[in-house]
Amino acid sequence: MCGIVGYIGNKQAYPILIKGLHRLEYRGYDSAGIALLDDDTNLHVYKTQGKVANLEAFCKDKNISGTIGIAHTRWATHGEPNDVNAHPHYSQSENLALIHNGIIENYITLKQMLIDKGYTFVSQTDTEVLVQFVEYVKNENNLSLYEAVHQALTQVVGAYAIAVIEKGNPNVLIAARKGSPLIIGIGEDDFFLGSDASPIVEYTKDVIYLEEESIVQITRGQKDIVIKNLDNVDLKQNIQKIQIDLSEIEKGGFPHFMLKEIFEQPKSLLMCMNGRVERQNVVLSGIRENIEKFRNTNRIIITACGTSWHAGIIGKYLFESFCKIPVQIEVASEFRYRHPVVRKSDILIAISQSGETADTIAAMELAKKQGTFIYGICNVVGSSVARLTDSGTYTHAGPEIGVASTKAFTTQVAVLTMMALTIGKELGTIDDATYHRISKELSQIPQKIESILSHAERIEKVSKVFTYARNFMYLGRGYNYAVALEGALKLKEISYIHAEGYPAAEMKHGPIALVDEDMPIVVIAPKFGIYDKIVSNVQELKARNGRIIAIVSEGDDRIAKIADYSIEIPDVEECLTPLLTVIPLQLLSYYIATAKGRDVDQPRNLAKSVTVE
Ligand code: F6R
Repeated sequence: MCGIVGYIGNKQAYPILIKGLHRLEYRGYDSAGIALLDDDTNLHVYKTQGKVANLEAFCKDKNISGTIGIAHTRWATHGEPNDVNAHPHYSQSENLALIHNGIIENYITLKQMLIDKGYTFVSQTDTEVLVQFVEYVKNENNLSLYEAVHQALTQVVGAYAIAVIEKGNPNVLIAARKGSPLIIGIGEDDFFLGSDASPIVEYTKDVIYLEEESIVQITRGQKDIVIKNLDNVDLKQNIQKIQIDLSEIEKGGFPHFMLKEIFEQPKSLLMCMNGRVERQNVVLSGIRENIEKFRNTNRIIITACGTSWHAGIIGKYLFESFCKIPVQIEVASEFRYRHPVVRKSDILIAISQSGETADTIAAMELAKKQGTFIYGICNVVGSSVARLTDSGTYTHAGPEIGVASTKAFTTQVAVLTMMALTIGKELGTIDDATYHRISKELSQIPQKIESILSHAERIEKVSKVFTYARNFMYLGRGYNYAVALEGALKLKEISYIHAEGYPAAEMKHGPIALVDEDMPIVVIAPKFGIYDKIVSNVQELKARNGRIIAIVSEGDDRIAKIADYSIEIPDVEECLTPLLTVIPLQLLSYYIATAKGRDVDQPRNLAKSVTVE
């Protein structure tokens, strides 16, 4: 939610900041803005509603120069998306400019105090309150910018990643974080700031992932950065290497990141399983090292949001089948607030692509307070989720930039499958033959996805038939119930068509009333145990004139005969079917959305990582 970029050094800041904003645009695209100090150390702010391209157009004829600057792309929380509420925000005297990702919870109290002191406000944002408050603290106590930010933040309640610059002070860039991510890139003679590594990787691979509650002063020309916590204690400068390449965050010839990421899934799954699935065996060190915890627990709680929650549902089915451990699956935003019973003897598994989802982090913190062992499944190395866990497994999907999650889902399901196999094997709850058979089949999934992707054109053709639809229904059973939820989520978020996912047999308890000749129904029906029952479900729908798109196993001759359209997936073990059935659904959503002219990489109202409640 909101992206932050910063630069201080000897290069022109504007092109670096604009490029950085484009790379972070997936985090929010309600407005964008830039603040720079020019060569006379005057402070200038340029900002516009809408995407970074609007800002670029706005800046085109302006003579912008300067070697220190900050930039922001916004996902609106306080105040509608417009020019005035766009960041950066000036302080009252226009001496300071500040950008912010997060929410200042006590901004109303601070604002009232400042109004009483004669401060005036132009925007509705909590961020403007923060920059005014920093200036107030600075002037009242005659402090340096660093000291003022530090003192102000000790009185702020909420979450933030911020960057501040000051008129007449061209050698100092101040930044701070609590609850929202911030990374410093260390170049030859310059420094970069980013909400993630994507605006930095082109210039340097050396980065510092800032700790919670740190405040930073970067001074031009000085190698050493001051990093302290809110108690003014020096923090270690732990320089790490960025693990991503520039090519991974570019579109590579695809029209959209989403399509690139759908097509990348064979590769991302290979990376995810690399060194972990070999010769019909699975080796997952995070599980092996902690196997006693899994042996002794009475319950696993899986928590996550959105697509990651859908992967978690599949995890529940896997763990209960192969490890015989009861599993509770929890939407993190509900779990954190409903006074759940969490015991020290439980294991909490948190799943998050970004590792920055506020609700998932809060759910983890809740369990941590009870002393519960926390296992993370996460894509972004060094993220908050990764740091909060006792142990975990990275999905290694590579950067996911399209707002709609695709490769994150399949790699999360692959990790959950590897976990279930490893735990089941260690605890003796899965027989050897099944363990080896599924491990082997898992290693073959990337080729099977390739074969589905090679028929993308057929799915595109089918999608064209359904662009008229205003509603869609997705039905699945067993492992594919979660895929029905995921298919519906993908469609609604990028095409804005209303879609519902249901367990297929639940239809007759209410939703079947919606079925008529205008209702497309996607039925996920690979040939397994309760296949016969799904055939009956499909017949019931057809009898009511529903238009059926069926995802079926290769060679299926029953559902394919009843359905209007059928899309085949290669044969595979039942527990692995979600890894294949989800692919046509991702493509279907993508092609419907693009046919309708939607902006699939940046759908309206959404942002990639939800760092606010
Ligand atoms: C859907 C989507 C979201 C995320 C959710 C959790 O396509 O991307 O539903 O899955 O916001 O995000 P992470 O996994 O980053 O915690």
